[in-house]
Amino acid sequence: MPAVNKLEAAMNEETIHWKDKYKLDIEIIDLQHQYFADLINRLSVQLNQTDNLQYQAALISELNAYARFHFISEENLMQQAGYPGLQQHKKLHHDLMDQLSVKESRLELNHGESEAESIIDFLRDWFLHHTVVEDRKFADYFHAQTQPAD
Ligand SMILES: [Fe+2]
Repeated sequence: MPAVNKLEAAMNEETIHWKDKYKLDIEIIDLQHQYFADLINRLSVQLNQTDNLQYQAALISELNAYARFHFISEENLMQQAGYPGLQQHKKLHHDLMDQLSVKESRLELNHGESEAESIIDFLRDWFLHHTVVEDRKFADYFHAQTQPAD
């Protein structure tokens, strides 16, 4: 298959398409999640277009920086809302950053050509699960706090 078609096929199969079920109805988090999903999609394409390991590492670090920002933002909101699951949720974020660091080191050490794409696969799966399951738990709590049933 020509490289361009291969890339298109990969994109269709692997692109995160934003769905209503990802929406938590907390504007700041929804905006950041949408940006996060777009970033994963964009970096997936850009990583496929280059063999330059240094550039690949720089692309991953762009994602790393945004993930860090987003997690702090989310945790601060949880803190503000008095969310009882904050510590547990922080641990999930922390574990993700740890796993990402390990994968980044492997990429920099050039262990396997497909390391960059495996990082994207990992992030995509993590993002979809975390948003739908874990962040949803906070959103349910948040809405119960801010919109008490009458
Ligand atoms: Fe989260």
